[in-house]
Amino acid sequence: MLLAFETSCDETSAAVVHHGQVLSNVVASQIALHAEYGGVVPELAARAHLQNLVPIAHAALRQAQAGPERLDAVAATQGPGLPSALMVGFKAAQALAFVLRRPFLGIHHHEAHLYSPWIKGTSPAADFSAFQPNVSLIASGGHTLLVHVRAELKHRLLGSTVDDAAGECFDKVGKLLGLPYPAGPEMDRLAEHGNPKAFHFPRPMLNEAHDDFSFSGLKTSVRYFLRDHPAVLKDAQIIGDLCASVQAAIVEVLVDKTIRAARRLKVGCVTASGGVICNRALRRDLLQACEREGFKLLLAEKSLCTDNAAMIGILAERKLKSCAGQTSLDADISPDWLLAGQE
Ligand code: KG4
Ligand code: ZN
Repeated sequence: MLLAFETSCDETSAAVVHHGQVLSNVVASQIALHAEYGGVVPELAARAHLQNLVPIAHAALRQAQAGPERLDAVAATQGPGLPSALMVGFKAAQALAFVLRRPFLGIHHHEAHLYSPWIKGTSPAADFSAFQPNVSLIASGGHTLLVHVRAELKHRLLGSTVDDAAGECFDKVGKLLGLPYPAGPEMDRLAEHGNPKAFHFPRPMLNEAHDDFSFSGLKTSVRYFLRDHPAVLKDAQIIGDLCASVQAAIVEVLVDKTIRAARRLKVGCVTASGGVICNRALRRDLLQACEREGFKLLLAEKSLCTDNAAMIGILAERKLKSCAGQTSLDADISPDWLLAGQE
């Protein structure tokens, strides 16, 4: 039985996993705390993690009906993320591993996202028997990555955003439209009644041969549009049309680049995770594109799209079983840890 912590950004989470089964996954979101600042304030995030981590760890153990003495290992996100936030979960997990004399694993946050689409069911369990080589899209407020996962625990980064992440683009455009932080879910809702063809916004890097992304130009073009047409902000229908048009641009870039990479690498499977994968248009268009191409599609369940400790625990357990290496109790956090290739 393994206890995992995730505190890389603004979710405090603890989970207990056992043989690929998620016995508990408790997540406390700090969205309300950061909303009035329009973005995550690192110092506030760290303080909230400090307040929340112990009660959340207790809740996760209680739900899993496990006492600390039954734990075989402890894991935590080591990076990337906000340094002061990472520190809370990582150092707490090391201390616990020290006291219990159990193995400790520091986990790469993005590597954990790669396996979250394989966790399914009402009593969620990871089905690694169905695993197949895939191209994985990770899209959230902090990252937009395309990864080739050749085999379990073997991956290579194909591309990432050179500026804003996809979720950041949703959030910044939403802010320009006067929507509360984080604006992604609200834009998704407003886009439902808008016309995605009403306005044409750029599809950055859509037709370039590499697998990188860029979203800051899209945000800037919305800013210029609003500067030149300030009256549109008073019209609810036009706001819906703007949300739908911006969403269409982001979704088209994410879907097309993912499908193109999957085709080029000749994988039969596409997976996706991260907060932006909650977006309904993205889920629908990815599904349609994968059906058209004959790819199997695995989307992380919405509760596992956003940051959570279950994905950290599931990956840690696989690493422990495959003897992929423990992390020293003296190890430090790695806030800028890049998803290096593991071939
Ligand atoms: O994975 P996550 O919870 O946190 C990190 O950034 O790591 O992702 C949060 C991001 C935010 O930018 C939020 O606006 C976006 O995911 N998001 C969405 C939707 N739900 C969350 N973006 C578009 N449509 C959604 N339905
Ligand atoms: Zn994440």
